[in-house]
Amino acid sequence: MGERKQRGWSLQGMTALVTGGTKGIGRAVVEDLMGFGATVHTCARNGTELNQRLQEWRDLGYHVTGSVCDVFVQAAREKLMEEVASLFHGKLNILVSTVGTALHKPTVDFTAEEYSHVMDTNFESTFHLTQLAHPLLKASGQGSIVLLSSVASIVAIANGTLYAASKGALNQFTRNLACEWAKDNIRTNCVAPWIIKTEMPAVKRITASAIQRKITLPKLLLKIGEKKRTGVQSDDVAEHLGL
Ligand SMILES: NC(=O)c1ccc[n+]([C@@H]2O[C@H](COP(=O)([O-])OP(=O)(O)OC[C@H]3O[C@@H](n4cnc5c(N)ncnc54)[C@H](OP(=O)(O)O)[C@@H]3O)[C@@H](O)[C@H]2O)c1
Repeated sequence: MGERKQRGWSLQGMTALVTGGTKGIGRAVVEDLMGFGATVHTCARNGTELNQRLQEWRDLGYHVTGSVCDVFVQAAREKLMEEVASLFHGKLNILVSTVGTALHKPTVDFTAEEYSHVMDTNFESTFHLTQLAHPLLKASGQGSIVLLSSVASIVAIANGTLYAASKGALNQFTRNLACEWAKDNIRTNCVAPWIIKTEMPAVKRITASAIQRKITLPKLLLKIGEKKRTGVQSDDVAEHLGL
């Protein structure tokens, strides 16, 4: 954030919705946006954690609100966007959709329910949230959407086929939406991080197992090892949102 602040970068007067803002990358994004002056609304499923986080941020003087919402559920997404429309008077400048889930197992072992859970959480919920947000982003006159993809959408990762496909769908969705909604002054981007040290259960398992087995993962993980940490930090991702 430091370098961008020095360059006079500001989001003063801007409104933002960040899904999954209580932990990991979403939390870093909320804090980055607030640090630049944006008014932020976030959501998560765990109400106790959400209230704790909101209190911590308000104690620091930030303008932030939140809703308990499971973005996997269609009606919950609709309710979330109604709350955002009411809070921000029908206008939204920034939508950052960070919620995602990973299930690593051989492709032939996936059940239909597991398939739906991964695809609906990672792709369908994002697709629907952007649809719901469109009138608000357009009304702001200066909209920006950022989606959370993954390096797994570009390179093959063992037993991560379905996760990779869901993130690959997001990549192409981003390209199309960027063209389709440019006329409405809405920019669309996605970020595709490699392993980031967060609470995501799949990430915890991957990093723990890699460290235990002294697996040589590609360059980045080697670099991380040199830094004596098990993952790049969420703040590093927040810095590359392309807002
Ligand atoms: N960490 C990595 O290495 C990595 C690498 C590449 C891409 N990514 C992507 O980055 C995104 C964020 O991952 P992360 O590692 O930061 O995850 P995380 O640390 O597990 O945090 C997830 C956040 O989203 C919320 N959340 C999860 N499911 C939700 C749902 N259905 N509805 C509403 N909120 C929900 C969680 O709160 P509750 O549990 O209370 O709902 C939490 O605030 C994902 O899309 C992931 O695929 C992560």
